[in-house]
Amino acid sequence: MDKLQIIGGNRLSGEIEISGAKNAALEIIPAVILSDNVCRIENVPDITDIHAMIEILIAMGAKVNYIDRTTVEIDPRPIDTYIAPSELARNIRGSYYFLGALLGRSRHALVAMPGGCDIGTRPIDQHLKGFTALGANYRYIRDTVDDVVNISVEVEAKKLTGDNIYLDVVTVGATINIMLAAVRADGITVIENAAREPHIVDLANFLNSMGADVRGAGTDVIKIRGKKHLHSADYSIIPDQIEAGTYMVAAAATGGNVLIRNVIPKHLESITSKLEETGAEVVEFDDSVRVSAAGRPHRCNIKTMPHPGFPTDMQPQMAVLLSLADGTSHINESIWDNRFKYVEELRKMGAKIEVRGNVAQISGVRSLYGADLYATDLRAGAAMVIAGLCADGETTIGKIHYIERGYECLTEKLLRAGAQIQRVSLPDPADL
Ligand code: EPZ
Repeated sequence: MDKLQIIGGNRLSGEIEISGAKNAALEIIPAVILSDNVCRIENVPDITDIHAMIEILIAMGAKVNYIDRTTVEIDPRPIDTYIAPSELARNIRGSYYFLGALLGRSRHALVAMPGGCDIGTRPIDQHLKGFTALGANYRYIRDTVDDVVNISVEVEAKKLTGDNIYLDVVTVGATINIMLAAVRADGITVIENAAREPHIVDLANFLNSMGADVRGAGTDVIKIRGKKHLHSADYSIIPDQIEAGTYMVAAAATGGNVLIRNVIPKHLESITSKLEETGAEVVEFDDSVRVSAAGRPHRCNIKTMPHPGFPTDMQPQMAVLLSLADGTSHINESIWDNRFKYVEELRKMGAKIEVRGNVAQISGVRSLYGADLYATDLRAGAAMVIAGLCADGETTIGKIHYIERGYECLTEKLLRAGAQIQRVSLPDPADL
């Protein structure tokens, strides 16, 4: 069983280069099937979630050619199915973007209900509300294999026609899925109360580079004039806001001094501002930020919000920093209803965190100590890595497949920044 083994106590220093954004790549890869020709995508992160999306495309018939580790050419023309293979689609949440993309491409989609991180209930009612407004019908299909009930969603439309869609909650996934279908609908679609995350703007830019007409992405009203055809495009994915934020917090938590390169500082504003509240210094350059910190972090309170609020995908990492702060902090998780599972693991390291409902109360301690931990989801795993880097002694982290879903070359990047971290094969205590 592979684990990460970390000897804590080193201050991070030097430079860390940020990869392409996972959540942007997860929507841009399915969006390619809306094109009539080959698309070339650069800055694609080399992570398992993206490998899974590429596998789905290949299984559907697309021709995929990796030019190098992070540049891929995708020819969607040979795809002649409306089905994303369920055994692959079920493994990854991003696969539900094939619902919107296939609906836009062929007016028909069948996709298994997605897996992904267990961070709370993950309904898709707003996606379906959007598809219905465009003229599609949907049905759930249940099948049982080896006593396991699998659920898929089939969406079909004779004709897709633009409409006004008001989202009842601000949802990234539904905003994206509706955009994917609407760019190939007849007429104009308006999405109100749309999500404003940087990767929604990135998707709009990619779609527009294929000849789509998407306006207003990055605001809460997105207007899409549908097009019959979209052409080929060359596109480079934005840097990963959350990967950058994770290393910013790691730099601050270890009392280090790190230049984080290949970022868009504007995307990091909410993270920067919270780090500054804790006493860290953040200096912004054109496409990099330098984070340094000395002494004990100050306490602060955080409430997770849709963009431009503080991202939920950064709250576990901040919880580690605040575990070491000089006072009591509160984190209010307002997006997901089950995103504090990591707390139990951090307690094994001496963190003092109490969770009541959607609020974690963190009483800062002077130091954490090494422990044997298990990642409970992607960002929780990243938080445990930061905790291991700060702790006295050795920390091991199991279930690292979660971390590998979203962090390219994490071990190598941290090693170059002076961390003592390695991937090792260790027996699982449960097997001893
Ligand atoms: C995306 O998930 C990200 N995943 C998540 O990243 C991220 O935590 C989340 O956005 C919020 O920023 C991907 O991009 C693949 P939502 P998504 O739809 O799209 C409710 C990571 O660590 N909701 O914005 O699934 C929902 O229950 C991850 O990289 C409905 O009620 O999130 C939640 O409370 C994990 N009905 C809220 O909206 C719907 O139809 C936000 O969900 C859809 C969502």
